[in-house]
Amino acid sequence: MLSKINPTQTKSWQALEDHFAENDLELRTLFQYNPNRFEEFSIKKDHFLFDYSKNLITGKTKELLLNLAEECQLKEAISKMFSGDKINETEGRAVLHTALRDFSDKEIMVDGENIKPQIKNVLDHMKVFSESIISGNHKGFSGKEITDVVNIGIGGSDLGPVMVVSALKHFKTRLNVHFVSNVDGNHIAEVVKNLNPETTLFIIASKTFTTQETMTNANSAKDWFLKAGKQQDVAKHFVALSTNVQAVKDFGIAEENIFEFWDWVGGRYSLWSAIGLSIVLSMGYENFEQLLKGAFDTDQHFQTADFSKNIPVLMGLLGIWYRNFYAATTYAILPYSQYLDRFAAYLQQGDMESNGKCVDRNGEFVEYETGPIIWGEPGTNGQHAFYQLIHQGTELIPADFIAYAKSPNKISDHQDKLLANFFAQTEALAFGKTEEEVEKELKDSGKSDEEIDFVLNYKVFHGNTPTNSLLFNELTPFSLGQLIALYEHKIFVQGIIWNIFSFDQFGVELGKVLANKILPELESNEKVSSHDSSTNGLINYYKEFK
Ligand code: F6P
Repeated sequence: MLSKINPTQTKSWQALEDHFAENDLELRTLFQYNPNRFEEFSIKKDHFLFDYSKNLITGKTKELLLNLAEECQLKEAISKMFSGDKINETEGRAVLHTALRDFSDKEIMVDGENIKPQIKNVLDHMKVFSESIISGNHKGFSGKEITDVVNIGIGGSDLGPVMVVSALKHFKTRLNVHFVSNVDGNHIAEVVKNLNPETTLFIIASKTFTTQETMTNANSAKDWFLKAGKQQDVAKHFVALSTNVQAVKDFGIAEENIFEFWDWVGGRYSLWSAIGLSIVLSMGYENFEQLLKGAFDTDQHFQTADFSKNIPVLMGLLGIWYRNFYAATTYAILPYSQYLDRFAAYLQQGDMESNGKCVDRNGEFVEYETGPIIWGEPGTNGQHAFYQLIHQGTELIPADFIAYAKSPNKISDHQDKLLANFFAQTEALAFGKTEEEVEKELKDSGKSDEEIDFVLNYKVFHGNTPTNSLLFNELTPFSLGQLIALYEHKIFVQGIIWNIFSFDQFGVELGKVLANKILPELESNEKVSSHDSSTNGLINYYKEFK
């Protein structure tokens, strides 16, 4: 069981409140008076640098935040998660996505059984299967090699693989991997329209194997396939990734084509499990193993590094500092890598489905803020879209900047330009441009006093916007594994301190239940009157035009 400590009742929270009230922290001054700030507030790890010096903190802030982590028993919580305690208490489950990438000899027990051999069996199955597909040994029903793979899944059974496949497309095998998630039939229609059923493999990815979107798309995929193939050919073209073996068999997928995982793997933490099969097919088993090893590297760091040098712990604590003391409602994820174009979308589920909660671990409604809104887009694109608001709007938006020193595509000076923008933005956000600076600049350019007066305030940048910079040497499967696990653990740290349960997701249920009630009403010819007037009005309008 996890501790059930209201963070706001701790001594360190009170001390942080006082510290916040007494100090108007200014990045300009903090850097001016501490020439060692970068050395003091940055950590070099193998393969990357974490610079958190551009945060609104002093050594004292850090000390108080670390005290908070201690008072909320974070250390104990970490060891409970890794050792298989049932910390997902509302669902009575262990939380062991970390076991999927544990390359140590250590046994990990769930309900008295060591789960390491089962994990190894599934990984071996994924390896053998993927090799037979990639090599072309596995033939489709007409004797041709598989050329295209379609992963059908949603949420955690989609977002992680989509993000990783996109991020590591430089490591691509000969297979084209596609994803269908939305119940909007246009999604599957557009994906299969250029595919050949003779050379297509479908992966039905669903932890529960009951999700409406996935089952609808899976059935449509089967219908599409059966226009060319026969029922007995399904075995060569459909595999399933699920914890619900019986439902998979009922769907008609052969037992040898089931890649199992377990209820101790949360959907949004499942890309390391059988759910990663599309990843394996897109880049080969060795690269998938590197991804796991990268995550394992972060897991070891998270478990062993002193909290004062523990990157996910610091990331989590800094997020709490802004959310609960600066009242920041959102948090931006800004990768300066087009390869990470789906990273923010992936983290939205990881973070918001985990920490978007308002009931604490005592079952009481919380009286403080929990998870922020996570959003973002790759730079430099975002600079020409929403950065205006970050620079000159009325919200404080802390942000993480992520970039890679080396690029696999060396084209003229693209990489230097990309990184110049990365460095410039974190600098501009931190230090802004003062009234005096603007005034001088305008004077130097020959503007009159009247002209200066008119534009002055519009040209001021308030600065003091905090950022973390994660600068990796290179985007590889290993470093991507490191990065993803950093965020998984950051989310964990915050959930523990906010005293909430991060591993359930009851908030997605109500909409699902109501949709199932409404569905038959859309199929009937009757006018609907069973809802509120707005819902009735919308449904009846739809029925008129559908
Ligand atoms: O959106 C709710 C949710 O349960 C997610 O947590 C999960 O990742 C997704 O649906 C898909 O679920 P499944 O893998 O069971 O189809």
